[in-house]
Amino acid sequence: MSRNPLRDPNDRRLPAVAGPCGMVIFGVTGDLARKKLMPAVYDLANRGLLPPGFSLVGFARRDWEDQDFAQVVHDAVKEHARTEFREEVWDQLAEGVRFVPGNFDDDEAFDRLRQTIHELDELRGTRGNHAFYLSIPPRFFGDVIGKLKKHGLAEERPGTWRRVVIEKPFGHDLASARELNDVLSEVFPAESVFRIDHYLGKETVQNILAMRFANMMFEPLWNSNYVDHVQITMAEDIGIGGRAGYYDGIGAARDVIQNHLLQLLALTAMEEPTSFDARSLRIEKLKVLESVTLPRRLDRATARGQYAAGWAGGVKVPGYHEEPDIPADSRTETYAALRLEVDNRRWSGVPFYLRTGKRLGRRVTEVAIQFKRAPHLPFRREATETLGANALVVRVQPDEGVTLRFGSKVPGTHMEIRDVNMDFAYGGSFTEASPEAYERLILDVLLGEPPLFPRHEEVEQSWRILDPVMEHWAERGKPELYPAGTWGPASSDAMLARDGRAWRRP
Ligand code: BG6
Repeated sequence: MSRNPLRDPNDRRLPAVAGPCGMVIFGVTGDLARKKLMPAVYDLANRGLLPPGFSLVGFARRDWEDQDFAQVVHDAVKEHARTEFREEVWDQLAEGVRFVPGNFDDDEAFDRLRQTIHELDELRGTRGNHAFYLSIPPRFFGDVIGKLKKHGLAEERPGTWRRVVIEKPFGHDLASARELNDVLSEVFPAESVFRIDHYLGKETVQNILAMRFANMMFEPLWNSNYVDHVQITMAEDIGIGGRAGYYDGIGAARDVIQNHLLQLLALTAMEEPTSFDARSLRIEKLKVLESVTLPRRLDRATARGQYAAGWAGGVKVPGYHEEPDIPADSRTETYAALRLEVDNRRWSGVPFYLRTGKRLGRRVTEVAIQFKRAPHLPFRREATETLGANALVVRVQPDEGVTLRFGSKVPGTHMEIRDVNMDFAYGGSFTEASPEAYERLILDVLLGEPPLFPRHEEVEQSWRILDPVMEHWAERGKPELYPAGTWGPASSDAMLARDGRAWRRP
């Protein structure tokens, strides 16, 4: 794009501008495309990070012309983009917007897609470089990948690239994840496959590595000598909304533990990579995921629940069973908690507790490192009665930052020590606003930068960890109910209580 006031020359986080290219989105009528993908494309254009001739092709089963699709993109951008709407940016982007109507198994439609891409290469100078974003239910992956191959769309001519972007779920267990990978790898080489885990696109998640490996004071404590346990929480206050079709039968563990939470665990527990290139990161993440084990007694090391009617933000909300399109006998869990261990020297004996749920008390995602207590307290017992354990909490969202909790003397003539918090908040320390995760990830796809995309081997490890839990739950009837607006089922609290610990109440 031409001169752009939003392109801050000091912004070193996203300095690279994508070369000539375009993106095709399959599934443009879906929520993800409307709320995240199209707005992110606009935000990138607005920040001057897309090439001038960037083209955006929508593919869906709709009787639309190019201008109808352009209107859909326009509305999505107006409603959901992060940066302000500027006519000149929009006009330039809109010139490269095309629509191809068709089914995922329709050869003629894929022919039209090839033709459209060819025209864009000629007209807009996209030079044969295109990313195919599969924002569609996984049951269609095979069809679309097969057609891309059949119509020569996956083929890279010398000096050009073709990439495919897929969204989770990457299968529903280890076997199906392998099948999916076979389908993909038959058509695209591993380095052309970009698996989106949008948590890795979040600033605060990337900051876990910055904090650990750019500083001196954390890493010496980051091990079983000093850490008592780790709690990784992803709590949502929303219910499943209109996503019954996707969510029912999948549930909380497959929806977010398999991907987001295990990636958070990997970043928290991994060793220092030799560099920040994709290969070195992958080696370390894979190593730590391979070391993750489940305790033998799954009944004691896991908990699951399903929300019943209750309250959210002062409003009465229905239970999971009353949500539209949810079968009355659904056993899908909307809350899941696990106790994992990382069997290596650094973490031996340190439990990693993971929990996630819908309709919980509050929306919060955090990684909390809970330290051991000081081995000796040279104070009178009353002085430290209310003193807790030290904690370092990476606040992933919504209040992004880091909190350090430690004991401090209460002002006064006597000695009393109480917990205090020292806070770093993004808003207070940086003037730059964080880009949306999808902005960062889409740009990385177009740049061909793989570090923030999990590889198939990591996906396999996540399923290896989760499969026994899913089988265990499948054999055990219904999940325990918890009222909406609370912090999940009692069995989850009991799981930690058995270890003499308690969940944080963020
Ligand atoms: C998605 C899950 O991956 O993450 C959703 O499928 C969940 O169920 C969402 O609501 C949460 O994302 P964020 O970025 O709002 O934490």
